[in-house]
Formats: sequence, C-alpha cells, structure tokens
Amino acid sequence: MPQPTAMKAPEFPRVTRDSHIIWPASWKERFRRRLRAWYRRNARNLPWRRDPTAYQVWVSEIMLQQTQVETVKPYFERFLAEFPTVVDLATADEAAVLRQWEGLGYYRRARQLHAAAKSVMDRHAGQFPRYPQELQALPGIGRYTAGAIASLAYGLPAPILEANTVRLWSRLLAVREDPRQAGIQKLLWRAAEDILPRRDAAELNQALMDLGSLVCKPRQPLCETCPAKSLCPTRAHGLQDVIPARAKRPATERVTEVAAVVWDRQRVLLGQRGPNERWAGLWDFVRFPWKSGGSPRSDEVTKEVARRTGLPVQPRGPLPTLRHGVTRFAITLRCFEFEREQNGSRQARPARPYQWWPIGKLSELPLHKTARKIAHTLQEKRARQPFSQDS
Ligand code: ADE
Repeated sequence: MPQPTAMKAPEFPRVTRDSHIIWPASWKERFRRRLRAWYRRNARNLPWRRDPTAYQVWVSEIMLQQTQVETVKPYFERFLAEFPTVVDLATADEAAVLRQWEGLGYYRRARQLHAAAKSVMDRHAGQFPRYPQELQALPGIGRYTAGAIASLAYGLPAPILEANTVRLWSRLLAVREDPRQAGIQKLLWRAAEDILPRRDAAELNQALMDLGSLVCKPRQPLCETCPAKSLCPTRAHGLQDVIPARAKRPATERVTEVAAVVWDRQRVLLGQRGPNERWAGLWDFVRFPWKSGGSPRSDEVTKEVARRTGLPVQPRGPLPTLRHGVTRFAITLRCFEFEREQNGSRQARPARPYQWWPIGKLSELPLHKTARKIAHTLQEKRARQPFSQDS
C-alpha cells in the first residue's frame, strides 16, 4: 500500500487571496524567541524608554511621526524639561509649546498635542486613558499612537505599526504590493496583532521597531545578522530590493520667495501665521512668493513690501539667500532688509497680521526655521557693528 507523502509545513507565513495570514506551525514562537534574545543584546537606549509613562510615550511618539529618532532625542529632553507633566503642557501658552517644537516641522502635531493635553485635563481628570479606543478620541492620536501608549506605557497587548515595522512585516510576509494601500495596511496590522504575546507586549513591540530600524533597513538590510533570517521569505528569495514597493516621489518644483526684515529703530516687523496657513501659529518676517523667479529687483521688492505692510519703506540691502524644502517645493528664499521711512507718519500702523517686535524679544517667539536663521544673521551683524545702531 502506498504511504501518504509527508506534508512538509510551509516555512514562511503565507497570505491567502482573501488576505488571511497562515502562520506555519511554531513560526510565531520561534520568531518571538529569537527576537527577544536579539533585543536583550541590541535594544537602543532611547530617552523615552527610561520612564515610559503614558505622557512620555505619547510626547515621543508624536515627535517620532515624520521625524528621525536622532533628531527627536534632544527635542524630547528639552520638551520634558519645560513641560514635565500633562498639567504643565495643558496650562502652557500655545506659543511656548511651539517654541519648544521649533525646527521639528509639521507644527500641527504640536498644536494637537497641546489640545489633547487640555482634553486629558478636562475630560479625564489629568489621567491618560488606557485603552486604544479612548486614546484615539484625543486630538492627533491615531491607531498607531494609541497602540504605542496602551502597550509601552500600560503593557496591554495592543499592536503598533510604524515606518520600521511596515517594512519588517512587508518582508516577513513577502508582500509585493505598495504597503500604503488600505488593504495592505490592514494585513500588516493583522500581522502586528497576531504576533503579540498576551504578556509583555511592550518588549516585543519595541523589539520589532528596533529590528526594523537597525537590521531590516530600507536599503541593504543586514540580513546576515538578523535573528529572523531563516524565517524570512524575502531574504530566501533575494527580494530585499523589491520589497517593500517604493512610492514614486513627486517631481520637485523650484520656487522663489522673498523674506523682508523691516526695521523701525530697534524693532522689526513680524506676522503670526493664521490657523489655516502653512506654519500656523509661528511668527515670520514679511514673506511672499516671487512669481517671476530669478533674482528679484530691489525697486520691485520695495514696492511689494510697502504694499503688503501698508508702510513706506526704504531698502537697506540684501541678506544671505536661504534654500529649504517644503513638501515637493525647493524654495529659494531671497532675503532683504528695509527701513521704515522716518519721514512718513509715525502713527501709521502696519497692515495685519504684522506687528512691531523689539529685536531682543525674538528669542521668546516661535519662529519658522528660516526666520530663526535670519534672526541669527541679524544678531551676528549687530554683534559686529555694536555702535552703528540708532536707539
Ligand atoms: N519610531 C516610532 N516610534 C518609535 C519608538 N517608540 N522607538 C523607536 N523608534 C520609533
């Protein structure tokens, strides 16, 4: 009688047509065991891991959205020194919060953090909720941040999926489709959920992020040192360069803008960005797009600055040009100094949203990154010519 052929268990997780994950026998246990052993030797020493309260996990996760770990570290330390508890944050002025956020970009995050701190005070008596659903009702907290707080601060078995683990799971499941697609996101979330043990989800979630970041890198992943190397179909088939599928970057567009520092004795003109504008809540010098591109002519810029500020101005000269990127725009920022005409009426008030600020006060205001650079240039110039100022 013919013997039934022994069915060999598949070595790798398999995704069915209807997006279910079939985990081979003992794959999850082996993966968890090796990952934990690796993490105990390789965990990153990150400031928000020292005392992972809900507040600290929350602040760090909001900062880590769209920003690299190394950039976040000093911001996190300064933010916690300035606002050690959710009460300190909730009772601070928005300008003070934005001042601490200055340079991190995506300032909506800071405004939502501030709004959520107030909501924790008003609706939860200052205690962070524990469960993902309640957490997600707070401004700026999505599924990922809620999962991070629930698991890292409260030890609940809540999954998390961020850039590093999207890449890791795409490779462990050999998903060739673009991981930004809604259906694929759902699948990756399921994997992140399936892998969690009942206890100690915090350690496993952190280990997954560290493995994604330190080993399963976007380019040239360090597969030979990976604790999951024999469990990974992407490595087995040599598809590391193809998985995950990369997004096509939109073409960059070059644009020219003008920044104008308008002086009135020791004061300069600044406007605060409105709630629906780019860089809402931040202060900036007079700034506007320069449609015709190229190097703007001094007389044309003077006319435009006078028109926008409602003040007669005279050019003082150029400042160094700055270059920076915002989304897909590569901006060349032509910078100039002007002086308010002294023979004009001193009663004339600048047009909205501009206001006069003593130059010494700029260190207290949240400024856009380029405005801060210009402010430093002004400071350096003043330091070189201490006696040339009128008072
Ligand atoms: N990226 C996003 N969240 C993170 C965290 N908690 N630790 C390290 N990297 C992260």
